[in-house]
Amino acid sequence: MSGDVTSTTELIPAPLTTGAAAPSGAFVLDGTTVIDAGPGTEGTARWLRGTLGAATGFALPPGDGADSGALRLRIRPDETVRLGPEGYTLHVDRTAVTLSGGGPAGVFWGAQTLRQLLGPDAFRRAPLAPGRRWTVPATDVEDAPRFRWRGLLLDVARHFTAKEGVLRYLDLMAAHKLNVFHFHLTDDQGWRLEIKRHPKLTETGAWRARTKFGHRFSPLWEEKPHGGYYTQDDIREIVAYAAERHISVVPEIDVPGHSQAAIAAYPELGNTDVIDTTALSVWDTWGVSSNVLAPTDNTLHFFEGVLEEVLELFPADVTGLLPFSGFIHIGGDECPKDQWRRSPVAQARIKELGLADEDELQSWFVAHFDNWLRDRGRRLIGWDEILEGGLAKGAAVASWRGYQGGIAAARAGHDVVVCPEQHVYLDHRQAAGPDEPVPIGFVRTLEDVYRFEPVPPELDARQAEHVLGTQANLWTEVMENHARVDYQAFPRLAAFAEVAWSRLPAPAERDFAGFERRMAAHYRRLDALGVDYRPPSGPRPWQQRPGVQGRPLDGPPPSR
Ligand code: ACM
Repeated sequence: MSGDVTSTTELIPAPLTTGAAAPSGAFVLDGTTVIDAGPGTEGTARWLRGTLGAATGFALPPGDGADSGALRLRIRPDETVRLGPEGYTLHVDRTAVTLSGGGPAGVFWGAQTLRQLLGPDAFRRAPLAPGRRWTVPATDVEDAPRFRWRGLLLDVARHFTAKEGVLRYLDLMAAHKLNVFHFHLTDDQGWRLEIKRHPKLTETGAWRARTKFGHRFSPLWEEKPHGGYYTQDDIREIVAYAAERHISVVPEIDVPGHSQAAIAAYPELGNTDVIDTTALSVWDTWGVSSNVLAPTDNTLHFFEGVLEEVLELFPADVTGLLPFSGFIHIGGDECPKDQWRRSPVAQARIKELGLADEDELQSWFVAHFDNWLRDRGRRLIGWDEILEGGLAKGAAVASWRGYQGGIAAARAGHDVVVCPEQHVYLDHRQAAGPDEPVPIGFVRTLEDVYRFEPVPPELDARQAEHVLGTQANLWTEVMENHARVDYQAFPRLAAFAEVAWSRLPAPAERDFAGFERRMAAHYRRLDALGVDYRPPSGPRPWQQRPGVQGRPLDGPPPSR
């Protein structure tokens, strides 16, 4: 079988610069190739041995390469100072592959590029045939990310993704040089995190009796129990697996709205003076539940207890290698105020605290956890609603309702992650055709995502420094299994990864045709990885969901 070489012009995300090194030719990876791993690169060496070792069948033992070809891994902040800790250079000639990173993360991202250069079969888990020739074309690559926060949110509350599926998504993120996993662990429809001191959160809150099939207007139900949760050891494994891939995990415990599953488990958390919260169950349909947390001391103490366990499970990295591991996302979005308006307890609290209204009560609730986290050396991040009513210094904002929240937050000196529903909510349909499965809201094509610009032009240069980066969000109301998640995520996540990593020109000037050409190679990588992406020609028959209603194109405005 001949070598199946990928050229540097087929890389996704596109690197900063590439050039053909002299002399021309290629490095041959074979059974004699060793890995010469300098200090600080041991993790990438382990990853290469596991991943390329499996795909090629070569052992890739440690060595100095004196008698054979070597993959040489080095940390060289001096040489790569312009590129930063996540930047790298990759030099390939006939004798060696030399990968130098500004820091350990840079070496790891360079290893992702090396895997792409070996061709799509490098994304398989076993060699297809013995005797296959593996080559890397001689080249020089210089690369560094545009944004520090290159995130993906996975909603495991609406539909549960078992641990194996989460680990798989971490691998998919790494292959696309994405580095923040926003783990949406709790919502009205399920609580997915074992909390030892409050066991009913998962005993009760992780399960629902049935599930709406389709958008909330759909008449269909899936009449079977659904649920699941991660044990604390599952979480430790997930966090460690992510760390090996230089991915920070940011857990989200969504309060004070999106909390019906917690209230179903512990009815005293709800507004017991407004409704009979003992009658609530984990929600089985979609939308924004009106059953929100009561603003009581009991609720605050309960969630402090939850967060104490969360902080232990999601440690802040003290080495600086996982820059966003100290963040805790507390949600703060979509908290209907109707129950608080009707609750004597909530009204008494507003009066006691001298607050103007229920919006200020929500700010007080968020500020409590902002201070609580800060006292423990952590940083709060929340959805842009947390800006309403003022926000403490140090908290960061995820701007989802368009750019406005992000603009306001950056102007007020807060760090921002830009993830507008209008651009990077991958639950939205990716084509207008009638065969899109459970089509939600507006059409956002591959090209739309490719032309997404995270930094709003309204920000001046100093304000724009507050843009930590960007994130794509996978909300799973209508994604009942991993094939459906894959379909919504891919290929658009590849375009998103390029927006987050590469230094693209202004949206109108981006070379989408060139990106599509590179996608031809990338689809083959996704095939080898077993990703159930949407083909450019449209959904395959089994990817369709005939008769299952989504949210109409011209339907209700984006209240989720
Ligand atoms: C959100 O989509 N409610 C953050």
